Amino acid sequence: MYSLVVATATAAMAMSTALAVDPRDFEADLNLPGFHFVPYPFDWQNDPNGPLYDPVHDKYHLFYQYQTPRLWGHAVSDDLVSWVQMPVAITTDQWYDQGGVFSGSGTVLDDEEQSVILTISSSDNTEIFVATPKDRSDPFLTEWELPDSNPIYTTSARDPTEIMKTSDGRYRIADGTADGTAIWECMGCETAEDIISGGKWEEIGMYQTKPDGQGYWECPDTFPLLGENAIDGTWVSKFSMSGDRYYLGTYNETSGEFSPYDLEDRMYDSNSKFYASKTFLDTRDEPRRVLWGWLVCGNPGESEWTGLQSAPRVVEAAADGKSIVMAPIPELKTLRSDDDKAHYENLSGNGDDVKELDFSGRMFDVEATIGGDGASQSCGFRVLWDGADEFTDVSIPEGTKSVRMLVDSSVIELFADGVATTTFGLRTKAGSVKFGLLGDCVFEGIDAWAMSPYEYDASNVL
Ligand SMILES: *[C@@H]1O[C@H](CO)[C@@H](O)[C@H](O)[C@H]1NC(C)=O
Ligand SMILES: *[C@@H]1O[C@H](CO)[C@@H](O)[C@H](O)[C@H]1NC(C)=O
Repeated sequence: MYSLVVATATAAMAMSTALAVDPRDFEADLNLPGFHFVPYPFDWQNDPNGPLYDPVHDKYHLFYQYQTPRLWGHAVSDDLVSWVQMPVAITTDQWYDQGGVFSGSGTVLDDEEQSVILTISSSDNTEIFVATPKDRSDPFLTEWELPDSNPIYTTSARDPTEIMKTSDGRYRIADGTADGTAIWECMGCETAEDIISGGKWEEIGMYQTKPDGQGYWECPDTFPLLGENAIDGTWVSKFSMSGDRYYLGTYNETSGEFSPYDLEDRMYDSNSKFYASKTFLDTRDEPRRVLWGWLVCGNPGESEWTGLQSAPRVVEAAADGKSIVMAPIPELKTLRSDDDKAHYENLSGNGDDVKELDFSGRMFDVEATIGGDGASQSCGFRVLWDGADEFTDVSIPEGTKSVRMLVDSSVIELFADGVATTTFGLRTKAGSVKFGLLGDCVFEGIDAWAMSPYEYDASNVL
């Protein structure tokens, strides 16, 4: 106990004496977002990996596919809004990860130590391996180690989920295969040690066999759906295949099998460039499911960074319990400006012409309510990047009554009654970003707030 307390204090002091350094230059890079996560040093990033909440140190961790060959980048946050950039967590230095350290998940076990285990796939989709923190008492979990007993199993699969514990105490992992989502169990395992370096992992069956004709299911996510409208016992079977798609259904713990309520094609985000997403159970307050997705936006304006993480979203059951709705985490509202904001009432669009509003800002957050029967077919927003000649139109699905739009430099995330659509723009001229109304619906109320960039401390990597 004594050594644990000392180690914690030392790590905390090391962090607080370092001067926070924000590496972002928003004037030099017009497309650089301020509240969507970008790793530093700027480089390639793709899938979010192993997001988790660590209750021991009350911190959030995000890992992500980073650089070429792929490594696990790492960032830590107190609130899912501001970020401390950490050194790369997992690099390629083992026989099984020579082509890169590919995607996976993070688990906090409910054992006494609240053991943290990352589950990872090899680049050739054959080995599933694990990593654990070198020092569980370091609040930032800075260094990670790969047990000598790796890999935990060999298969033809990729993108393992977190370790799921059944109600009778068995440990399972799901992974993506050419046939759908497979499910594995650690036979007779009871402890973290059993899971990472003792237990025999066996494929017990398919969580879900994919319907005929679909491509490879990547990045499976298998979890119980939360929210006041969730039908009791509803589980999610999410996979990435030309966008992020999902079924809802029930999970039979005995057989390990998921049975979909229906096979209707539903997407997390209507843009297939929202991809390879991953949720985690956030237990800090009232438990909630928080989702991260890779925004496949390239490197707009030849930026030094490529790819973004979405704003974290809370995932819940829709009113009828048959689909999923999502919203940006409420914590993002802390970035809203108290002074730089606008309010409009009872504005209708100009039909075919845009009705430009006088609010402007490079990063902003908009909430609007639409009267009558909700949005008509032509209804939408136009985001005007630099004056009127460069713009991106975002349509609002018919019938929508409540809409939220995040505009962050070059990326737009729209939530229409909880249905998400991500859109990318391109800024080429410095100027102010504005927005306007399209179509002929009546916006009963519109609030817009300028957003500040999140606090970003990259001193650990500079
Ligand atoms: C769950 O799976 C087991 C084992 O295959 C089976 O015996 C049982 O009937 C299933 N339960 C339901 C509710 O389908
Ligand atoms: C907007 O319309 C509502 C309902 O018709 C009305 O009560 C309200 O006073 C109007 N607001 C303004 C600013 O005109």
